[in-house]
Amino acid sequence: MAAANSLSLTSAFLPRHGFHGPSHNQNVQLSTQKKQFARKAGSGTITAKFELQPPPYPMDALEPHMSSRTFEFHWGKHHRAYVDNLNKQIDGTELDGKTLEDIILITYNKGSPLPAFNNAAQAWNHQFFWESMKPNGGGEPSGELLELINRDFGSYDTFVKEFKAAAATQFGSGWAWLAYKPEDKKLTLVKTPNAENPLVLGYTALLTIDVWEHAYYLDFQNRRPDYISIFMEKLVSWEAVSSRLKTATA
Ligand SMILES: [Fe+2]
Repeated sequence: MAAANSLSLTSAFLPRHGFHGPSHNQNVQLSTQKKQFARKAGSGTITAKFELQPPPYPMDALEPHMSSRTFEFHWGKHHRAYVDNLNKQIDGTELDGKTLEDIILITYNKGSPLPAFNNAAQAWNHQFFWESMKPNGGGEPSGELLELINRDFGSYDTFVKEFKAAAATQFGSGWAWLAYKPEDKKLTLVKTPNAENPLVLGYTALLTIDVWEHAYYLDFQNRRPDYISIFMEKLVSWEAVSSRLKTATA
């Protein structure tokens, strides 16, 4: 799949409360979302089935930094299971037919998650994670993104240090995120346990790293800090992050 497509897919997963007014981009995003999460009619019953989207690049495209073996397990087994289990959980319930973002927000239930929350959030988080990376990624951001990083973290080096620390110190399974906080128009770092994500905090997610062991154990065993360093140096798609920021601040 072409890089341009991966960016539009990225935007399709942004929380709706991250949008500020209609725009051409938004129309593109919403139509993509509709296509991705299209309802399927079957034998008189209308059910909304979420479909596991393929990664935006071939599964060996991140070698040698993320092995195809890791990718095949992570996407093909773990991500697939979250989507399949979510479909089973919402089938015939009042959540059937809602967007993935709405299901996440509803089932978060103000911090007392309902049964479908973990699968819904993990389905979203993983798609967002694949789209946070690209072959030949890494390097440094530029433009407005770099300006905001410098403004809100002091420097790019400080940001990297703090992002790595957040990812390394998330106890057990979880995620580290760069997010945009709409109410004070600032970038912020968030680390979340298990399936939680910035949507439930009212923030717009810009970048994430999965720090569940299944994300790195085959390649790095227990060396989570090495996985985090490689992610930042070789895998991050700053184009995706900039595109998400542009949507968040539009
Ligand atoms: Fe994962």
